[in-house]
Amino acid sequence: MTHDKAIQLDSQYIMGTYGRYPLVPASASGSMITDENGKKYIDFTSGIGVNSLGWCDEGWLRAVTGQLGKFQHISNYFVSVPTAELAKELVTRSGLRKAFFGNSGAEANEGAIKTARKYSSDRYPDRPNRRTIVSLDRSFHGRTITTLAATGQDVFHRHFDPFTAGFKYSPLNDICALKSALTADVCAVIAEPVQGEGGVNIMTAEFASALRQLCDERDLLLIFDEIQTGIGRTGTLFSFEQYVKPDILTLAKGLGGGLPVGAFVCGEKCASVLGSGMHGTTFGGNPVVAAGACEVLSRITSGGFLASVREKGAYIRSALASKNLPVKDIRGLGMMIGIEVADGLSHKEIARTAFDRGLLVLTAGSNVVRLLPPLNITYEDIDAGIGILAGCFEKA
Ligand SMILES: Cc1ncc(COP(=O)(O)O)c(C=O)c1O
Repeated sequence: MTHDKAIQLDSQYIMGTYGRYPLVPASASGSMITDENGKKYIDFTSGIGVNSLGWCDEGWLRAVTGQLGKFQHISNYFVSVPTAELAKELVTRSGLRKAFFGNSGAEANEGAIKTARKYSSDRYPDRPNRRTIVSLDRSFHGRTITTLAATGQDVFHRHFDPFTAGFKYSPLNDICALKSALTADVCAVIAEPVQGEGGVNIMTAEFASALRQLCDERDLLLIFDEIQTGIGRTGTLFSFEQYVKPDILTLAKGLGGGLPVGAFVCGEKCASVLGSGMHGTTFGGNPVVAAGACEVLSRITSGGFLASVREKGAYIRSALASKNLPVKDIRGLGMMIGIEVADGLSHKEIARTAFDRGLLVLTAGSNVVRLLPPLNITYEDIDAGIGILAGCFEKA
């Protein structure tokens, strides 16, 4: 099928919920995609933080196809070796206690929310109103009705009410406001260590410590949504390692290396809160996906990999800074990078120009160009991509 025919079928038969770029990949490897017309693109997006090891990584392919050749799915009434191994890796590496597997980030957060409410119901049976979850302004937690309610951005709330009740919002990095928000009806706080969709907004260490302390004092569960920040993206396997340990950790995106998976991992306090029959999903913990995820974890945690993510992230930020671009800020943690563009510039136009010139970048918030390159991108591809991106600011 030709490039143009594929685009025509896509727009004719798929709901128009995404503002798609006219790119139809024919093949891809490392950090490079070639489209059906032979045009090449450098990828600074990893499919929104999913393809952690880049495109068609050989080891990941071997792990996935190796499992596919054995069996593709088994229901959750039975045991699968790769799934059990993946759970062991996540639990031992996070220092938490038990994992549950689903298929997406939103589902992982749904499970965390259910766990937090059930924990409160078990521990405080005489306080049935103790079910509220505090989330942060500009957060993003998913697109289901409940995770939209947890998302602290009005723009996502239009049209879809009524939402699941029991959520309220407080500003990031404002300890006083957080204290006021933690009223007697609250049972948990959900937060991203670095807000991705909201604009690459970084939690301060002071705020994280206060958050942990306030949750401990009040027996509230702290949920870290690491769906975007986890699995090496910020330069440590989990970004909570640079902050404080949560009671519940949610993961998705980069964990599967390109196949759909979500997980929530619970610590000591809440590991046994969900008992038999209380939660489930048909596809969660798929063995093929789990085999790929085990390979992702093993590679990311092998010698020097995470240090290289930190080094490449710092290199990208300083290379961008040296170009004296019209920007308000260049920020990030590891390879999760936000470029806040100067007033009068459009982050979306810059992304579009980059696309036309063969570089894929993301946007976030109202004025941020967001970069989530594959974690194993080469310096050669980084330099080429930065060269293209800098030129796009000049044009804008
Ligand atoms: C921090 C965060 N949480 C949750 C989600 C939702 O994940 P999914 O799209 O897999 O449901 C996302 C997706 O962008 C995210 O960045």
